[in-house]
Amino acid sequence: MKIGLIFGTRPEAIKMAPVYHELKKSKVDVKVISTGQHREMLYQVLNLFEIQPDYELNIMKEGQGLSELTSRLIQKVEEIVKEEKLDFILVQGDTTSAFVGALVGFYNKIPVGHIEAGLRTGDIYSPFPEEANRKLIGNIAKVHFAPTDVNVNNLLAEGYKNDNIQKVGNTVIDALYWVKENRSADLDFIKEKYGLIDKKYILMTMHRRENWGNPMRDTLKGVRRYLEENKELYLVFPMHMNPLVREVIREELEGFGRKILIDPLEYLEFISIMDGAHYIMTDSGGVQEEAPSLGKPTLVLRNTTERPEAIEAGTAKLIGTSSEEVYKYMKVLEGDLYIEMSKANNPYGDGRTSKKIYLEILKNIKGEQL
Ligand code: UD1
Ligand code: UDP
Repeated sequence: MKIGLIFGTRPEAIKMAPVYHELKKSKVDVKVISTGQHREMLYQVLNLFEIQPDYELNIMKEGQGLSELTSRLIQKVEEIVKEEKLDFILVQGDTTSAFVGALVGFYNKIPVGHIEAGLRTGDIYSPFPEEANRKLIGNIAKVHFAPTDVNVNNLLAEGYKNDNIQKVGNTVIDALYWVKENRSADLDFIKEKYGLIDKKYILMTMHRRENWGNPMRDTLKGVRRYLEENKELYLVFPMHMNPLVREVIREELEGFGRKILIDPLEYLEFISIMDGAHYIMTDSGGVQEEAPSLGKPTLVLRNTTERPEAIEAGTAKLIGTSSEEVYKYMKVLEGDLYIEMSKANNPYGDGRTSKKIYLEILKNIKGEQL
């Protein structure tokens, strides 16, 4: 049995890493096809999780547009898929790399498993283009590996057959456990490295396409206003490599002293910085999943979320990107709500998701006599 893992961005690599190790441990013939949609941010993860891709497409260009990225990827990924004669393809989440991996699988009549299936906001433009990507992958996939009941119900409501949906949790929890077991974090060292010893800080990340430009500017205006009134707080902002994102952050925070603007952190460091943060502000999908496990209050800088579990668990609040709302919620977090939101709660699985995925693939492949 030969299984192809097709991915190319930071979050996909983090969430695929435990699946890769599970398959390797089970002596499956695994082919890792790294699209290279990301460069620096992907290599960080591959190094940490000791993944050596069989193919590295190195496709990234500065300011890549969706259509050109998609079209370049389709051709290159197909060449490899044809050559390798894969029995099964696994894609993760909702990126362009995941969508292309699924599409090429379909064109070559190779069954596709979709990890992190069934997440929906119901708004095709939010997040953009991810909501469309995951729906399109859903149409193609043979097996839907859904993290939670909410995700299973979304798929059932769209008419997918129960037999093809497997509720398995999210591999992000497996990745968290893997890091804790294999790479013990030294929080003090990392805090010292970034000058954070004895500092109370808010951790912020922001990168989504629909937030580029004014939404990000407005958010940062609200954050800055609040921080200027609260002199004990620092802002730690590991900035996505996208120059469009970095430029806005630098401009909006220019002249503000208590900020630590840094390059994307290695996953292990990021988890440690999350763990030490007073709270988190983010538009990231993965961070919304990790924060409940760490019991970190999280303000979600978006108008919609496909991850209502974190909100129901009480750790996250969806606050949008207007400077008034952002300021207001930062103030609200001064009160009792902070304690309520700090309770650790993990709605995303038991850390055995990769194992469950492997066992389901085995059943699926045997059942179909491929
Ligand atoms: C992509 C995914 C998004 C995911 C995010 C995770 C798509 C359409 N978007 O968005 O779903 O949430 O990754 O971070 O698939 N860049 C670098 N180095 C890197 C990575 C990016 O320089 O290591 C810069 C490049 O200029 C690149 C730009 O960032 O053109 C945007 O990268 P891209 O993958 O197109 O979009 P993301 O916003 O990263
Ligand atoms: N992350 C990281 N370093 C950072 C910022 C985030 O390792 O500097 C990790 C984070 O822990 C999470 C993942 O990257 O697992 C989320 O990636 P991102 O926010 O880029 O994408 P999304 O999840 O929104 O698709």
